[in-house]
Amino acid sequence: MEPGGPLLIEGPVEFVAEDGTVIRSDRPVVALCTCRRSRRFPFCDTSHRRRGKRSQGRA
Ligand code: FES
Repeated sequence: MEPGGPLLIEGPVEFVAEDGTVIRSDRPVVALCTCRRSRRFPFCDTSHRRRGKRSQGRA
């Protein structure tokens, strides 16, 4: 698992959100957001990649 990245689980899956909404995915592998930056939460939309990115220039 990539630090700050998604948690990969086998699908299909079904979640019940805090408000009682049922969210379902039929994909064989589902990426769950652990950083809470995803616009598709609880699913990862790769927004975690933009967090804390440092310059990787060479000296
Ligand atoms: S883990 Fe990917 S957007 Fe949160």
